[in-house]
Amino acid sequence: MLMNFLSSFNIPLRAFLLTALVSSGCAERQQSVTNIALMGVVTSGQEGPMEGVVVILRGVDETVLTSVTSDATGEFQFHRDRLGAGEYDVSVRAAGYELLETKTVVIDDKKTHSLGQLSLAAVTDPLRLASQLTSLDWVNSFPGSQAEKDLLVKNMVNCGFCHSLERIARSRYNAEGFEQVIQRMHTYETDHASADRIQIVSKPKPIEGLIWYGRKASDIAKYLATVNLSGGKSQWDYPLQTSPRPTGEGTNATVTVYPIPRQPSVIHDLDVDSKGNVWYGNTGWDFIGKLDPRTGEFSEWATPNFLPEPEEGLMRIVGVQDIQVDETDTVWVAVMGNKHASFSPDTETWQTYDLPVIWKNPFLGPVRAGEDGLWATGITSAPDGPIRHEHAFRFDIKTGEVGEGIMLFDDKPFPTDPNRVGQLNYCYMMDQDAEGNFLCTAPEASSIARSDGEGNVRLVPTLTPNAYPRRGYRDDNNHFWFTEFFADNVASIDLDTDQITEYPIQPRYISPYYARPDRNGKIWISSTGSDRLLRLDTETGTIVKYLMPVTYDARKVIVDNSADRITVWLPNKNQGQLIRIEVAN
Ligand code: HEC
Repeated sequence: MLMNFLSSFNIPLRAFLLTALVSSGCAERQQSVTNIALMGVVTSGQEGPMEGVVVILRGVDETVLTSVTSDATGEFQFHRDRLGAGEYDVSVRAAGYELLETKTVVIDDKKTHSLGQLSLAAVTDPLRLASQLTSLDWVNSFPGSQAEKDLLVKNMVNCGFCHSLERIARSRYNAEGFEQVIQRMHTYETDHASADRIQIVSKPKPIEGLIWYGRKASDIAKYLATVNLSGGKSQWDYPLQTSPRPTGEGTNATVTVYPIPRQPSVIHDLDVDSKGNVWYGNTGWDFIGKLDPRTGEFSEWATPNFLPEPEEGLMRIVGVQDIQVDETDTVWVAVMGNKHASFSPDTETWQTYDLPVIWKNPFLGPVRAGEDGLWATGITSAPDGPIRHEHAFRFDIKTGEVGEGIMLFDDKPFPTDPNRVGQLNYCYMMDQDAEGNFLCTAPEASSIARSDGEGNVRLVPTLTPNAYPRRGYRDDNNHFWFTEFFADNVASIDLDTDQITEYPIQPRYISPYYARPDRNGKIWISSTGSDRLLRLDTETGTIVKYLMPVTYDARKVIVDNSADRITVWLPNKNQGQLIRIEVAN
């Protein structure tokens, strides 16, 4: 990577090289820096050279975006292997700023081009600044007590899961109006919808006593009417706050955003095969797809759907969430209806397998090299009945056989948080320990549920109560890494000793969703609402934050350990995009 290359020079030489290139305008290529296609310095009248500005290039008439972030001296560089010859539109992401003038740049495959100084101007009009806020910025800006903000954010599905909270902030509803909005939002399928791809899957429930994922809709509505533009306000009566821009390590990433061709799409999960192809489940349509990042080529295949026809007036849920590629590059999907399915890329055919459940978990337990089983959980008694039984089944990917179920949760009362109502316990993300014994996150019990291999299941509680453990993955040292969505922590459980360690992430409400270890033992974490991808250094507890060039609502995080650089892939659920983040180490 460039920084490694440059850091092999002493500091004054490095500064000289960059200055020489920047000041020479349309610089001639220097022999020693041929791998840089474009460089420049970001400045503003307010700050001078600016660190942490995301500089975004998009080929004119193209859809793929590439971005880098300016460093502490305001400098940025695009590597030639991530920026081919062509004409590009230049844009920036830095809350509170915009480009002074629009810019395009032509890159050829020989010279190092310079944008010189990229000048930014401050955005002061709140109605325009509002479009630059992330959902997390909105939560931080909203007035109200912690209890009120908890009402809004700390839900299994919160109001930022299909669109930014900007929609709420800009709306003019009073509390009564908001109750109707919440009633309508409740008719959409949460994981399979975005604001652009609506799937109406349930009839409106009565407003009286309506519950939004464990919270009274009337309480949320009352609070929301205090933060929007209701009552004829022309702008917000609180200052709009934006999160700090990236610094240090957080500026050292190259990001590429690939919109998938079928739009609007909803992409919840993805995985990478042995050749570095990215496979995604389209949650908004009955398709899976593949991106070959070397060529940018997309392919897609229809998926089976076994759901019965819905009631009159409702839509049949389409699309698949979780997707996993095994060591033979067979693709595993939990299709709609109570089945698993595998797809062979060689023959382009599907095989489907029944699961003995009434309702199955949309996630799959991971399939890892050397492990030929994956776990599935599902409800095995009437889901709305007074008794709710959930079992875990081991599914053999070689034979398709489903093992005997392990009883996870029965009709015991589960919710541990008295402020949330009507929530039942369940298993969310599955994995197994090094001995092959089942484990899962149990968000409502705020625990990791573990099987001892003899049919007994124990709950290991998180250190922080009501932490809502969500999704994650086991590393090579028999530690399972997971996020604590309500507690804003990333955590691990040592599967030899049951010891849990929690690492706090700032600020509150960053809402971490999925944790994935890389080959260097660092943990990559998606956050719903901050537009930042996070990386934990487990030795120091430090969290690096990488700001994405687009609004992102990523679910699963995949690390492609076959690539030379650390390469992370994110699905951007609501925008139907695949995002690649590359860092030197
Ligand atoms: C399952 C996805 C989803 C979730 C979760 C969701 N919304 Fe929406 N939202 C939509 C869609 C789709 C639209 C556009 C269609 C519409 O207005 O119904 C929308 C539009 C909106 C709008 C703008 C339209 C209007 O009526 O002003 C507001 C405000 C809004 N949502 C508020 C909320 C609130 C409050 C919550 C949390 C209680 C929420 N949304 C959660 C999908 C969602």
